[in-house]
Amino acid sequence: MSTEKKILVVFGATGAQGGSVIQSLLSIPNSPYQIRAITRNPTSPRALALSSLGITLAAADLNDAASLTSVLTGAHAVFLVTDFWADISAPTQEIEQGRRAIDVLAAIPTLEHLIWSSLPSIKDASGGKYSAVVHFDGKTEVTEYIKGRHEKLWAKTTELWIAPYYQIWISNRVVFGPKKVIDDGREVFVLSSHAHGSVKVPMVDVKETGLVVSAILAKGQDLYTKTVSMIGCDSSSQAENLAMWGKYLDRDVLFNYISQQTTEEYLKNLGMPEYLVRDLVELPLALEEFEGRLYRKKGIVLANEVRAGRKLRGWEEYVKGENWEGFLKD
Ligand SMILES: NC(=O)c1ccc[n+]([C@@H]2O[C@H](COP(=O)([O-])OP(=O)(O)OC[C@H]3O[C@@H](n4cnc5c(N)ncnc54)[C@H](OP(=O)(O)O)[C@@H]3O)[C@@H](O)[C@H]2O)c1
Repeated sequence: MSTEKKILVVFGATGAQGGSVIQSLLSIPNSPYQIRAITRNPTSPRALALSSLGITLAAADLNDAASLTSVLTGAHAVFLVTDFWADISAPTQEIEQGRRAIDVLAAIPTLEHLIWSSLPSIKDASGGKYSAVVHFDGKTEVTEYIKGRHEKLWAKTTELWIAPYYQIWISNRVVFGPKKVIDDGREVFVLSSHAHGSVKVPMVDVKETGLVVSAILAKGQDLYTKTVSMIGCDSSSQAENLAMWGKYLDRDVLFNYISQQTTEEYLKNLGMPEYLVRDLVELPLALEEFEGRLYRKKGIVLANEVRAGRKLRGWEEYVKGENWEGFLKD
């Protein structure tokens, strides 16, 4: 029997999703995979940190097909994620990157399993009512491209939908997190939204991506052509989440329901391009209208099912495990 390990190529290796995939694979004793971590810059501090763990780095750019062919040659399994936010001046770039990678992957004879990190189409789910959320819909376009152009590749693909991260309060506070305001000498953390506080937005701890991806790889062909939906285990509302956070950290909090126009002006003042303002205005409206249903569809497989019923972390567990020191100071 061959003892040679299979090659798992991980895109976004220096980022949240890919980084979690690598951490999880590293923790599996006798993992059948040898990791090939993709980065545009193998000398960045994050890339060097991976290298110091003994991970093999390979340089590639999703904008460059030749570099993709080079790093995908010999791959047995691939975790593919595109980063919409890397260049917000180019709204269709992520679709082009996804298609480019898919064309290359379709020609890799060794490939056994592709895990494609996508998102549900809000345009389709809403019957066209919300058609501006391009950072969701673009990923679905790539999924449709696999199905339509590369049937044989689709036959060994698992699509993964990851809900908004709990971590976006910290990583993207300016848009999604509570801001500290001083009100009458009192410090209050205010979460403003034009979606009501009672809305139950499905969220998840992105650091658990690797647990789900490892489970998908272990299930192999059982999950080919399936969509796995990664949402956390609780169903509390935005206002309840905020209240729990405030209570745990002993801080005053306020959920502030604002008008759509106020959000629009706020985002415009941040210098966001017009299309992205529309995207970020429609997203909370769609989440309000669909709540958890957006991440469920006929035939979907929930991440908890893939993990034999073991639940993903809920908000409270995440809050208690996070370091809020810098967040509270800013
Ligand atoms: N935030 C959320 O709540 C959420 C939820 C679900 C899905 N998503 C989606 O997740 C994606 C981002 O993933 P993430 O959060 O893991 O990213 P992240 O932590 O911001 O890191 C971005 C990763 O993408 C890589 N990258 C960027 N441009 C690249 C290119 N041209 N070629 C090759 N690699 C490139 C970077 O690698 P190097 O810099 O090392 O080259 C880095 O590893 C976005 O498309 C977003 O829409 C986000």
